[in-house]
Amino acid sequence: MFSYSANDLYCEQVPLADLAARAGTPAYVYSSQSILANYRAYDDALGDLPHLVCYAVKANSSLAVLALLARAGAGFDIVSGGELYRVIQAGGDPSKVVFSGVGKTAAEVEYALASGIRGFNCESESELALIDALAARRGVKAAFSIRVNPDVDAATHPYISTGLSRHKFGIDIREAAAVYGRARRHTCLVADGVSCHIGSQILDPSPILEAVDKALELAAALRAQGHPIRHLDLGGGLGIAYNEREKTPAIPAYVESLRAKLRESGLAVTVEPGRSIVGAAGALIARVLYRKRNGSKEFVVVDAAMNDLIRPSLYGAYHEIMPVRRNRLPQIVADVVGPVCESGDFLARDRPMADVMPGDFLAVRDAGAYGFVLSSNYNSRPRAPEILVEGAAWRIVRARETHEDLVRGETL
Ligand code: LLP
Repeated sequence: MFSYSANDLYCEQVPLADLAARAGTPAYVYSSQSILANYRAYDDALGDLPHLVCYAVKANSSLAVLALLARAGAGFDIVSGGELYRVIQAGGDPSKVVFSGVGKTAAEVEYALASGIRGFNCESESELALIDALAARRGVKAAFSIRVNPDVDAATHPYISTGLSRHKFGIDIREAAAVYGRARRHTCLVADGVSCHIGSQILDPSPILEAVDKALELAAALRAQGHPIRHLDLGGGLGIAYNEREKTPAIPAYVESLRAKLRESGLAVTVEPGRSIVGAAGALIARVLYRKRNGSKEFVVVDAAMNDLIRPSLYGAYHEIMPVRRNRLPQIVADVVGPVCESGDFLARDRPMADVMPGDFLAVRDAGAYGFVLSSNYNSRPRAPEILVEGAAWRIVRARETHEDLVRGETL
């Protein structure tokens, strides 16, 4: 939903140059059409299979984005009490919420039980015991899946790969049946699923398919042992193409590759996609402050920095950077850097790009997932606003922070 018309970059029908001039920069801009299309791609492709698409809130937890998805019927995958609060504030249905994560606190479990969430994806036996005790106190039953660690290599960045036995996540799949067995003594727990998530930004989904095979095998064995397993949670993980060299299946093709296995199993399926729903739907708009050259190196200094978008600094991630207004000048090769006082503060390195001048706007693409949510106030920089585009209309759905916001809650 970001494309040029003549020489101007648009988000849906909104020219980004106008938006940036009026809302200021840096600013996150999201296309509602693109978010909804990606959500519907999962929902439609799963079609007649019993299913729930639980959007992974961590990817982009803006209330307006959650509200858009809630209205479309989405469920939500949360990893904290804060994310549950956001879902509820946005009008999401708690009975479609699954709670994942390796370190849920008692207060978070209480809040989730009180809100009537659908179930917990559990990662340790002590967590099962805690949920059972809190459910008993409340006089309710809690549905759970064990997140199994299938020891499959997701072949993605090491920080976001989670399915190997050396990672902190899940319970070793070879021990899972015994853990489900021991969990029978917890009378307030209902073992209604098996869950699995092997990592994020997975371009070749074959490791996911391998993990699904292992999880299905476990689910069948558990059913044979009398556990009331009804669904399989496949986690998230389908990547997006951040540059032209990267290839990843479209959402319908990915779902199709799972369909036969899932139908045969008779289980309902939950998916927890984050990045593939919101990633390409967002851009970070920045303004060029200065051009400078150190020796042979060319720098484009912009007003967005690593505190706004940390992915390049943290994962060496590539984000395409496009001029908001195209010119006819030959390309330059430059580092795009921000004002933060670290050499690690860059949005792109040695990048062939448009020959831009101070005052020009740039769009850092594919920043809708793990962009704003990972932003910080480092260097006491107010966080950027978030803007939602719907057709020819746009609105600020999170205001730019002020200096007062920076010191809120502090005392001398
Ligand atoms: N489910 C679970 C249990 C997860 O841990 C995650 C992501 C997802 C679903 C959603 O995965 P997705 O569909 O978005 O790949 N900050 C990193 C990504 C961290 C992903 C963490 N878990 C980045 O910027 O690449």
